[in-house]
Amino acid sequence: MKPISRRAALTLGGLGLAGTAIGGAGLLWSAQDGPGRAGVQPAGSAFGALPGDTLREPAELRSANGLLEVTLDAAPGRVDIGGRSATTLGYNGGLPGPTLRVRAGDRLAVSLHNGLAERTNLHVHGLHVSPEGNSDNPFVMIEPGDSFDYEYRLPADHSPGLYWYHPHHHGVVADQVSGGLYGAIVVEDPDPIPAARERVLVISDLTLDSSGTLGGATAAERMRGREGELVLVNGQLKPALGIRSGERERWRIVNTCVARYLRLRLDGQDLHLLGLDSGRFEAPKSVEEVLLAPGNRADLWVTAVQGAAVLRAVAYDRGSTAGMGGMMGGNGAGATEGTIDLATVTVTGAGVAALPAIPRQPKPADLRGATVTARREFVFAMGMGGGMGGGMGFTINGREFDGGRVDTTVQGDSVEEWTLTNTSPMDHPLHLHVWPMQVVNQGGRAVDSVLRQDVVNVPARSAVRVRIAFTGFTGKTVYHCHILDHEDNGMMGVIDVRPAGQPLT
Ligand code: C2O
Ligand code: CU
Ligand code: CU
Repeated sequence: MKPISRRAALTLGGLGLAGTAIGGAGLLWSAQDGPGRAGVQPAGSAFGALPGDTLREPAELRSANGLLEVTLDAAPGRVDIGGRSATTLGYNGGLPGPTLRVRAGDRLAVSLHNGLAERTNLHVHGLHVSPEGNSDNPFVMIEPGDSFDYEYRLPADHSPGLYWYHPHHHGVVADQVSGGLYGAIVVEDPDPIPAARERVLVISDLTLDSSGTLGGATAAERMRGREGELVLVNGQLKPALGIRSGERERWRIVNTCVARYLRLRLDGQDLHLLGLDSGRFEAPKSVEEVLLAPGNRADLWVTAVQGAAVLRAVAYDRGSTAGMGGMMGGNGAGATEGTIDLATVTVTGAGVAALPAIPRQPKPADLRGATVTARREFVFAMGMGGGMGGGMGFTINGREFDGGRVDTTVQGDSVEEWTLTNTSPMDHPLHLHVWPMQVVNQGGRAVDSVLRQDVVNVPARSAVRVRIAFTGFTGKTVYHCHILDHEDNGMMGVIDVRPAGQPLT
């Protein structure tokens, strides 16, 4: 896709649902039947029997002269999925919403219009920006029909990488994200990483009924964390893409699924992981597979080897609620269902000459030698007795979320070490806003490299230790399980980072 000018970007961003018939990539809700299928209906007509269309990229909006101004309209609309018309939610009529491309030091101004029937708001997942005021403030509430102007100022030393945006109104986050409200944010590299092509792959899942309407989630699914029946790449079912043999592409992949873990494989191809979340490794690692918990991102180099390949999500056991007293409506099986094909890759042509050298990245900051000023433990638990009506409670240190309570008070500019202890039989991926975490110990074993992530999976009945430098910003924000149903069920806490030197009370 060609970059578009800021002027065009502004226009695109401001169009909203009414203007989506212009047919730009990613603006899919132009007609009952999506573009590009020329009257061919898939045999069997169920969603997705056919190998899909060519992979599309979401529309892109790019900053210029240090500024990106966009309007995001969150609203229901019609979209083509696997040759069938469906009604989902989306930003600016796209599924996913437009990719926002910015640079360190930029100002990102987002006017969010709420075209939904319920409250919403916006979170810029992973960005290191202020959590206060009209910046990345998860406590903002936008009523149906209202708009809110967000403004995010990225520091000049902001880490490059893939980030994303999604709603964060407690209680309806899982519904809104699974409905289609998500989009990617790219913070560009100061020095470009050489690649024949760069692709943004937004992986999501959803469930549609036979009429193409979003399925809700049952109580049991909300406990376990809903997994959609359809797993989409850039809103498409099993899209196809082609690479020339020997070419090296850069794939930026985000897992926007509410609860589904993505253990990704692309067998037969050569994969190097450049980093996870905002963390970039000093040198890319050769990998066979990448595990992305909900919210995680991967920055992958794919070097094409002759032949065909399939991007697959293979089974991952994130534990189950079985054996918890049978209160789960019998749905106790772990998420160990079979392999899911996400996209097909065709490699053609003769080998490409010389591959670009793998550039060494700046040595990542390492908190392992830092002076730790506080150590805390956070216990993630599931049990009876919490919540309204005595259902299953999802707690951190024994408490469910209360937006009016501060759970953790931290001194700004300090480094803390947190032990994340999961006493439950399911994995919980912990996410902290604003400040990335460095994983220093997993299941009792020290981590021997710099592993910086903003979503850290804590496997069932185990512990992970992280260190966090609370630099750059102060204010109140949240940490929570990124299985968004668990977050909506209460597995979230409030953190208040106080200015350095101010006494903590
Ligand atoms: Cu991506 Cu608080 O979440
Ligand atoms: Cu976040
Ligand atoms: Cu959880």
